[in-house]
Amino acid sequence: MRIGYVQFEPRLGAVEENRAAVRELLLEAPEAELLVLPELASSGYHFATRADAWECSETADGAFTASLTEAARKRNCTYVAGLCEREGDQLWNSAVVVGPTGRIGLYRKAHLFLNERDLFEPGNLGLPVFDLGTCRLGVLICFDWQFPEAWRVLALGGAEVVAHPSNLVIPGRCQRVVPLHALSNRLFVVTANRVGEERGLRFTGRSQINDPGGKPSPRARPRGPRSPWSTSTLTWPGTSR
Ligand code: ACM
Repeated sequence: MRIGYVQFEPRLGAVEENRAAVRELLLEAPEAELLVLPELASSGYHFATRADAWECSETADGAFTASLTEAARKRNCTYVAGLCEREGDQLWNSAVVVGPTGRIGLYRKAHLFLNERDLFEPGNLGLPVFDLGTCRLGVLICFDWQFPEAWRVLALGGAEVVAHPSNLVIPGRCQRVVPLHALSNRLFVVTANRVGEERGLRFTGRSQINDPGGKPSPRARPRGPRSPWSTSTLTWPGTSR
């Protein structure tokens, strides 16, 4: 199985532009069965106010998911992508799992980071594991990585791969620790980070793929923070599916 990430620079508040950029990247990406995109790929990250986040929000089955579905159908791939999600009058920092037939799953970030608490509700869907046919998939979003019990719950729930859409801002810290979570829980992990800067926050790129031996895939090395995007794939040697 080939898994990978798409590292790029969403633009804050530019929902239509981000949707179009994602679509283009996915249509150009190397062949893979599973590709992971950054946290809040639909909207950008560093909102000044909840009203700003609300302006950029959409439902889990809105235009962003429809566009991912179209790309998934063309490329026969499954995507995990961060979404600024609205349901009723509430906002969530979410990730959708989308394949050729549409949305397969939804995860809402459990551990909100800094001022995210002023914008989003804490996730209320637990830590689901989705059976993609090719693998069993769990999802964590960015800061969730710091909580060992989250990885353990996913592993005990049968996850083989964890998709980790991120907007990391502390250089190298997550990238050093996630291989240990992969090792101790026997997981493949795809951390898809973003690059660029928003209102004084600099995002650190360095997306990576880790295997259950804890080793990052050499092909998943960062291209550097100036790269507009990059993808990497990993062949999963142990699987019969
Ligand atoms: C983060 O959770 N975006 C650091």
